[in-house]
Amino acid sequence: MVDFLERAGGNPGRSGHRLSIAAGRVINDAREAVAACFGADDPLRVIFTPNVTYALNIGLQALLQPGDRVVTTGIEHNSVMRPLREMAKAGLDLVVAPCDHTGALDLDVLRQLVTPGTRLVVANHASNVMGTILPAGEIAAIAHQAGALFMLDAAQTAGVLPIDVVALGVDLFAFTGHKGLQGPPGTGGLILGERVDVDAMRPVFAGGTGSRSEREEQPEILPDKFEVGTPNGVGIAGLAAGVRYVMAHGIAAIRADELALTQQLCQGLAAIPGVRVYGPADPAARTATVSVTLAGRSVSEVGWRLDDEYEILTRVGLHCSPATHRTIGTFPEGTVRLAPGLATTPADIDATLHALRTIACG
Ligand SMILES: Cc1ncc(COP(=O)(O)O)c(C=O)c1O
Repeated sequence: MVDFLERAGGNPGRSGHRLSIAAGRVINDAREAVAACFGADDPLRVIFTPNVTYALNIGLQALLQPGDRVVTTGIEHNSVMRPLREMAKAGLDLVVAPCDHTGALDLDVLRQLVTPGTRLVVANHASNVMGTILPAGEIAAIAHQAGALFMLDAAQTAGVLPIDVVALGVDLFAFTGHKGLQGPPGTGGLILGERVDVDAMRPVFAGGTGSRSEREEQPEILPDKFEVGTPNGVGIAGLAAGVRYVMAHGIAAIRADELALTQQLCQGLAAIPGVRVYGPADPAARTATVSVTLAGRSVSEVGWRLDDEYEILTRVGLHCSPATHRTIGTFPEGTVRLAPGLATTPADIDATLHALRTIACG
């Protein structure tokens, strides 16, 4: 990011001077790094956005019309539920496939709900509340069988689980930069697969792109159709550095480390009286995002004491996902969410277990 500001820092595509060209190179390299990370064939179908929420909104609004049928799940983040609920007010036919108390989706029920003519199935890849991993490849197959497209919210899994968008059958892949990809806040993107008819999509936002400046209409070419205004070059440079770091480390190795930490955490939690852990019991069926409640303690008290007394930072409450908390029975109080990551050590997990044991028993 420092290198971008010192060496580039121009506005890509807006001019022919050296700083503009240097900025364009950094962003194109970032597009290639992101495409390679997720097995996407065409870097020009990688659209950079300020976060995954924008990516999801662009995909949904560009694609859907009133009357279209959309099927989603009972464990979605508000970045999916809110745009869909808004669009339902204008006539979208929205169907929510239920999940059980661990977040698991019944694929037979989903198959019945995704009727022929359904336009889109949209699901998150893993719950941001309790880590439940949804079977993206199987959901994609159900969508395609009915003639629908499949959109994946990979906020919780990009950089955390090995992902090949082509092999999984993901048509619209939305990711955020500041979580598993180790990028800075304010970065993210949308990757459009080959099944997506880009010409049939609306631009959503329209404005300057630096291309086709003679026209007053939005260019049809990608990524310009969906990337308007000055891009966050410094953020995108940081995102590319994060993606390269994660790829050099190896996403399979990251997953193996997180699996071991999750196992250690969940085993330790099970031995603390009064602690309830949500989500799948099998660590292989989840990410490292673990939600808990402590009997007789409010989630705010637990979160505050973890921070104040132990410098352990958690997020408590509803995690922007009231749908999930309704599904698992923790609405409206929510849970305390623990989220070990790349920098977490087994000693950190032990310290967290010690802190929770003291709070639970004290
Ligand atoms: C599953 C899921 N979707 C969407 C989001 C929204 O992410 P962002 O704030 O980067 O748009 C998050 C992050 O909190 C998430 O976990």
